[in-house]
Amino acid sequence: MRLAMIAAALAASSAAADEPDLARGRAVYRDACASCHGPTGGGDGPGAVDLKPKPRDFVNGPFKFRSTPSGARPLLRDVVRTVTAGIRGTWMPAFGKILTAEDLRAVSAYVLAFAPPEDAAEVEVLVAPAEELRPPADTPELRERGKQLYETMGCGQCHGPLGRGDGPAAARAVNDKGESTAPLDFTLGLFKGGSSPADVYRTFVTGLDGTPMPSYAESLSEESDRWALVHYVRSLSRSPGPWQWLFGPRTPWE
Ligand code: HEC
Ligand code: HEC
Repeated sequence: MRLAMIAAALAASSAAADEPDLARGRAVYRDACASCHGPTGGGDGPGAVDLKPKPRDFVNGPFKFRSTPSGARPLLRDVVRTVTAGIRGTWMPAFGKILTAEDLRAVSAYVLAFAPPEDAAEVEVLVAPAEELRPPADTPELRERGKQLYETMGCGQCHGPLGRGDGPAAARAVNDKGESTAPLDFTLGLFKGGSSPADVYRTFVTGLDGTPMPSYAESLSEESDRWALVHYVRSLSRSPGPWQWLFGPRTPWE
């Protein structure tokens, strides 16, 4: 009896230790994020004025990088991933080497708290954590299947027949703020949401809310087809040559 009580108390305290520390999150946010994302998370900090794309408005969203359906909030792990790795090709810095793991979690939880509350029990998770995904081997056959899917699913309409971001619909691509958001030139290998197979998988399964990039969660339900597309899309990026290195687009921080 006594032992059981101690065990229960221990379990409760370790659950509490697992909870991100919101007060800590607030302090980190004020120091490291508010200048761009604004003191109350509205994406309107003093440093936001000239940035394109604008820093995210956490209150109104929408969030691009999610494991959840279109329109839903991201999971805590999604935000932690974004804050750790940053967003390549934009002004969103990578904090992975600046903040401790605990601070990364705390500030991510604080950021999520700006968004309207959601019933945690109802949140649907479309994509499992990266370490639980099992990508099949990248074979020529799978890439060939991916190439076919790329054509039949109309990815080229926006991303261009060779993945250069120059499809017929690319010029019209604007985000929810009316800023132009050219679809990615896959050949540059600059994936905003990360370039590992699991990252690319998540990006096109859940889509990027607020941009023309749709979610393929329903239209592409076959697991092996999804990985075929991942391998094909990743095979289009080549390592940048000297010309690209000198004059190509890059992350402003690099
Ligand atoms: C120098 C400006 C700057 C700073 C500082 C900054 N951000 Fe950002 N952040 C951005 C920009 C710009 C974007 C939008 C990029 C885009 O839309 O592709 C962004 C996007 C994000 C997103 C993406 C949400 C999504 O899925 O759409 C998160 C989360 C985020 N920032 C969290 C943070 C946190 C937490 C901090 C502080 C630890 C921080 N940012 C500091 C500029 C900044
Ligand atoms: C209606 C136009 C459109 C279609 C169709 C489309 N995309 Fe996209 N896609 C976009 C745009 C726009 C972006 C860039 C959004 C941004 O970065 O703000 C993008 C970005 C991406 C990214 C990169 C995200 C990152 O991490 O930077 C991947 C991967 C991607 N698309 C895969 C696909 C695949 C695979 C298909 C077909 C199954 C497809 N897209 C169809 C418009 C489209």
